[in-house]
Amino acid sequence: MQKLVEVDPWKIKQNELGFDQRPYESIFSLGNGSFGQRANFEEKYSGKTLLGNYSGGIYYPDPTKVGWWKNGYPEYFAKVLNSCNWIRLDVEVDGFSLDLSELNVKSFYRELDMKTGILSRKFKVELPNKKQITVSAQRFCSMHNDEVGAISYSITSDQEVNINIDSFLDFDIKNEDSNYEDYFWQNIEPHTNEECDLIIAATKKTNFWVALSQITTLNIKNDNFISSYESTKGDRFISRSFDCVLEAGQTLTTKKYISVLTSLKYDKEKLIDLVKNNVLQAKINDFEKLKTDHSEAWQQIWENADIQIEGDIKAQQAIRFNIFQLYQTYNGKYSYLNIGPKGFTGEKYGGATYWDTEAYCIPFYLKTSNSSVAKNLLIYRYNQLQKAIENAEKLGFKNGAALFPMVTMNGEECHNEWEITFEEIHRNGAIAYAIYNYVKHTIDYEYLEKYGLAVLVSIAKFWAQRVNWSEDKSKYVILGVTGPNEYENNVNNNWYTNYIAKWCLEYTLESLKRFPKKIQLEETELNRWKDIIDKIYLPNIHGTGIFLQNDGFLDKEIFPASKIPINQRPINQYWSWDKILRSVFIKQADVLQGLYFFENHFSEKVIKENIKYYEPLTVHESSLSPSIHSILFSKINDHKKAYEMYLRTARLDLDDYNHEVHEGLHITSMAGTWLSVIEGFAGLRVNEKGLYFKPILPEQWHSYCFNIMFRNQRVKFDIRKKSSVLINYGDQAINIFTNCKPYILEPHSKLTIVC
Ligand code: BGC
Repeated sequence: MQKLVEVDPWKIKQNELGFDQRPYESIFSLGNGSFGQRANFEEKYSGKTLLGNYSGGIYYPDPTKVGWWKNGYPEYFAKVLNSCNWIRLDVEVDGFSLDLSELNVKSFYRELDMKTGILSRKFKVELPNKKQITVSAQRFCSMHNDEVGAISYSITSDQEVNINIDSFLDFDIKNEDSNYEDYFWQNIEPHTNEECDLIIAATKKTNFWVALSQITTLNIKNDNFISSYESTKGDRFISRSFDCVLEAGQTLTTKKYISVLTSLKYDKEKLIDLVKNNVLQAKINDFEKLKTDHSEAWQQIWENADIQIEGDIKAQQAIRFNIFQLYQTYNGKYSYLNIGPKGFTGEKYGGATYWDTEAYCIPFYLKTSNSSVAKNLLIYRYNQLQKAIENAEKLGFKNGAALFPMVTMNGEECHNEWEITFEEIHRNGAIAYAIYNYVKHTIDYEYLEKYGLAVLVSIAKFWAQRVNWSEDKSKYVILGVTGPNEYENNVNNNWYTNYIAKWCLEYTLESLKRFPKKIQLEETELNRWKDIIDKIYLPNIHGTGIFLQNDGFLDKEIFPASKIPINQRPINQYWSWDKILRSVFIKQADVLQGLYFFENHFSEKVIKENIKYYEPLTVHESSLSPSIHSILFSKINDHKKAYEMYLRTARLDLDDYNHEVHEGLHITSMAGTWLSVIEGFAGLRVNEKGLYFKPILPEQWHSYCFNIMFRNQRVKFDIRKKSSVLINYGDQAINIFTNCKPYILEPHSKLTIVC
């Protein structure tokens, strides 16, 4: 654990510059769902830095690199592209480059205000000629208009200085994560005219177009605008440079308005005109108005999504940071975008979609937004159904069976480790589960009929073909899989996978019954599904209620993770892969992931027995792990462990627990943190009939308070030691179920519950 930032309920603050900016660049990242960036400095920085600007959905199919090719491998691993650097402002003062790693830094302060979504920075440096320069900068990626961003950058000097500012749209950018060091952009065209600069470029192979525009204004006090400039068109950039003399004590303010558009949203032919109009309009609006609109958009998000924690300021900051980052990553407007595990904060995981979206993020958006947000995420998969069928065909499946990819940008599998690509088939289950979850929350059966059902049927067909009959066991078995625990590969009968396969078949049959005319299936197919449901092998440890993670698990040497010497943790950094695979240690919730999803299928006693058995064997080396454990510990009333697990997930990035925050943030696991408060501590569940809750108050907190969206109505929960107060802001009454008795929460009314 490290102390990188100051503790504050709404702000993230950095007081010392340091040399390696990469951890801070991740933590202070900005985004608006459509585009985003690491918190690089506007001016040059020659210390340690990782430049990152990303446009949602714009990727490059980087050719697969493996030692030994296997049939069925995807041809490429998609990489979200490091895109045009639009924040770049090269600043020279009296001929000295304003570079914080080279100059004498007198003070430095950076702040991210999560309430308003504004990133600001202030620093003072001394130049080699002893003149002192103060810079004060602000920027944002507008949440109000997700095609626009803006920077305000002010320079003050204690003595007269000559200043040169060169404002760039710079496509001379490479991905750090690239297999063959390729440059991923082509057909770059810079344009300029009196009013603004433009640049457009296409991605190699995928031929996506990205267009950007900028207007840069310079102004010394009292609206004295500097109008003379020089434009430079490079092969890969366009820039506009200004010279001026700044008198002692005067302030020079540069405002930079930008717009980013992609051919995912608009026709390529229209991009130049649109991006130009956008930036002209942004300048007319002015920085202050754009900033106000942006902050108001954040205010609206917070109204639905905020969690207030009294009595624990670190927990307060952490939960807001997680909510803030999730909304910066996905704004719910577009069904062609999704949520990469690192969002717009780094290159790792290629910006691609994983099962994380369905298992972790959808429940978050379902309860903090209108249902259209989660629906768009589901429609993303529906739109990729045909590709999922093709993926399955490549592996030998037929008749419309679908295997959704473990990692994807466009519906094609693009991960090339066989144990993940071919074997981690449990992702199909999470996609079906998300459909179930959405319908349960929204009772939107129209969605189920129009989109969900087709996805379910194809998934069910896949499972029906993936199982095989074992004469030895007289059961259906599923061989050669990797469960959520990636520390064991090619196992047979992973309990979680077998269980979710069975459940998928059941839920699909139930959904088909609701719409008997929608999809007609052969009787033989339906009978096979029923037979599998009845006869699938679900291993358990003889004489106990413990489900067996997979065949052979008990042959391992079993001892708890607490016995692993501390200097060998995390084991994935110290042990050989061979040693990890043979060990008993579990990377993340596996059997327990199933008990979390299907808690109503099992008694509390069984859940307790399983968690007591598996948690000590779990090393939580996936950031997705502690949150599920925290929820289950809350469920079994082990408050101490629930809180311990919560702390591991909540400040994972802010305190850099895993020493990897420089690579980017763990965006998808942030949704898990949120779940550990709402589903864990508050014990909130949704079913067709209404809301069920069974809160606990962690002893470190005085109280906590949050809103959830239930069927597009806002409901507030204020949880205190002896009572909970609920407020319904909507027009419909809501059934509330608690441990003691049911209540009706009338429209626009308040209810105090003591039990
Ligand atoms: C986890 C996967 C997860 C992926 C992306 C891996 O470390 O084991 O379950 O989907 O990270 O977050």
